[in-house]
Amino acid sequence: MSSWVNENSVSFFQLFCIKVIKTGRIPQHIAFIMDGNRRYAKKASVDKKTGHYRGFDKLSETLKWCLDLGIPEVTVYAFSIENFKRGEDEVEALMDLARDKFQRLLEEMFERIQQFFYLFNSDQIRDWGVRVHVAGRLSLLPSDLRSLVSEVMLATKNNNKLRLNIAYAYTGRDEISRAASHIIDGVKNNEITADDIDDELISQSMELGEAELLVRTSGEVRLSDFMLWQLSDTVLYFTDVLWPEFSIWNLLAAIIHFQRHAPPIKPDKELDSRKETFLEHLENKRWQELAKNVS
Ligand code: FPP
Ligand code: MG
Repeated sequence: MSSWVNENSVSFFQLFCIKVIKTGRIPQHIAFIMDGNRRYAKKASVDKKTGHYRGFDKLSETLKWCLDLGIPEVTVYAFSIENFKRGEDEVEALMDLARDKFQRLLEEMFERIQQFFYLFNSDQIRDWGVRVHVAGRLSLLPSDLRSLVSEVMLATKNNNKLRLNIAYAYTGRDEISRAASHIIDGVKNNEITADDIDDELISQSMELGEAELLVRTSGEVRLSDFMLWQLSDTVLYFTDVLWPEFSIWNLLAAIIHFQRHAPPIKPDKELDSRKETFLEHLENKRWQELAKNVS
């Protein structure tokens, strides 16, 4: 995972500040709208593609900071369904970036597994990794990329150090529509009844869980159709910094903002066994779809 988690991005002083902040409450799920890559590119006199690559580098630094802060789940908005409307060259550059980075991730995983294969049992191997989930309408992706992201999800399925959700070919409304059709299928197949449909069942049928803190960079103060269902109780933090210039100090400021404004922790709701069974089937169906996508 080293190209995805920049191990060199924390100094001794920064680690000290992280430790101080960790004495307070830390969000268990943080979401980022990584905005401002093209404005950064203009400002730094580089092309848009380089702006997006610098955006990826910033993501890998941010993941290291989140790991050090003990944040177990991170969700990032990497490509919205609306982004397909951008120029052909830019869409292709963003798809190539994803191909490049996901391929690298798989190669690094296999290198590491080979390295450690004779030394540790498989449970220990699984201990270090980041679990990657790509959330979105994967049918909109070119087939090679769909196959690659499916492979990444299957390969990292048992990793447990941090869960990274990448919203790709994603909008919040589309995610709600997909959850609604899964629920309708469940009613049609008599797995659940119409009376079973409530906010908890809908929440559990979504691909993404609720985030406790949302950070949006670049001065835009909109949600842009991101995690609409999951942000109902979320602390929002907007900052003017462009995403490739986001620093650990911006992240720590966001966490302090969270500590000042966080609502009380909600207890988990219990689901009855029929709903549980429906959700298990849904989960299995999703894994089967992914396995089918891998060519
Ligand atoms: C928004 O900036 C950024 C994007 C549309 C792409 C974000 C992608 C990355 C940071 C790379 C992550 C990639 C993977 C595969 C995880 P913008 O283009 O809207 O810039 P602007 O607001 O200045 O116009
Ligand atoms: Mg933008």
